[in-house]
Amino acid sequence: MRTREGPDDSMTATEHIPVLARELVDLLNPVADGVYLDATFGGGGHTRELLRRLGPKGVVIAMDRDRESLERAAAGMDDPRVVYVHGSFSEMAAKVRALGFEEVDGVVMDLGISMVQMKDEVRGFSFHSTAPLDMRMDRESPVTAADIVNGWSERDIARILKEYGEEKKALQIAREIVRQRQKGRIETCVQLAAVVERVYRRRGRIHPATKTFQALRIAVNDELDQLSEGLSNAVSILKKGGRLCVITYHSLEDRIVKRFVLSAERQEGTLIRLNKKPITPLWDEQRMNPSSRSAKLRGVEKL
Ligand SMILES: C[S@@+](CC[C@H](N)C(=O)[O-])C[C@H]1O[C@@H](n2cnc3c(N)ncnc32)[C@H](O)[C@@H]1O
Repeated sequence: MRTREGPDDSMTATEHIPVLARELVDLLNPVADGVYLDATFGGGGHTRELLRRLGPKGVVIAMDRDRESLERAAAGMDDPRVVYVHGSFSEMAAKVRALGFEEVDGVVMDLGISMVQMKDEVRGFSFHSTAPLDMRMDRESPVTAADIVNGWSERDIARILKEYGEEKKALQIAREIVRQRQKGRIETCVQLAAVVERVYRRRGRIHPATKTFQALRIAVNDELDQLSEGLSNAVSILKKGGRLCVITYHSLEDRIVKRFVLSAERQEGTLIRLNKKPITPLWDEQRMNPSSRSAKLRGVEKL
């Protein structure tokens, strides 16, 4: 079995451990004085790994749609080569150009949320949390998970649970949500988790509300449209020979990336795949960082 070193010993439990960090930067193959966009800065783990491989003239544009995460991680990163910007995937090209960069040598997209966001009690991402059902990555965006759970029709809730959660019991859960909210608003994460548990009896280690929470998070943050727009934006700002590396965590995301890449390679002839099969974490990384288990890394080069 192949093994390799795990994350830094200095990491605390609340820090985000970057997934496939070395593999991602190897695939990106950075040039020393290049300009790179980390479009999912998060806790800054991938940016840190990238900075190790850049020279003094290299630049990393660190972007995140979560202003709090961005400010917190920026405060812990004292490096003049990093430029910070608040923004989402759909604004990627405009944000980069507004900073004065026409093109970049590489783009990193590490999808989903960070451990820091997940563990932040008040953000409402975790089914163990007594916090309000929020789930917005960008707290300036208008719709929260509570708005969906308490305001949408049974049909629309069932649709997102099926489409975004691939939840087999979507209809029953939606029906139970509507039944319970007639007795009083479903305000917190634990309340919603309890509603799902009325439909599903708990079996094994996976919480029965996992798919429901995934679906709500995707809907609240419009994650799939954001991803499609992000991929097009990334390619539009890449130099010829520049590279885009994407890490996905579930099949819906991975399908979008795979289709985008295949169409660009075979139909438009604008990209070439760097790896035909996705790179996945080694056993050691999966053991040390269970949230890396479903990660898939794909890289492309602009022609
Ligand atoms: C998995 S974390 C990234 C962790 C980071 N690579 C690290 O090593 O610390 C994903 C981050 O991307 C951000 N994000 C997710 N979707 C985004 C979008 N559409 N636009 C910008 N940032 C996004 C989230 O707010 C989160 O901070």
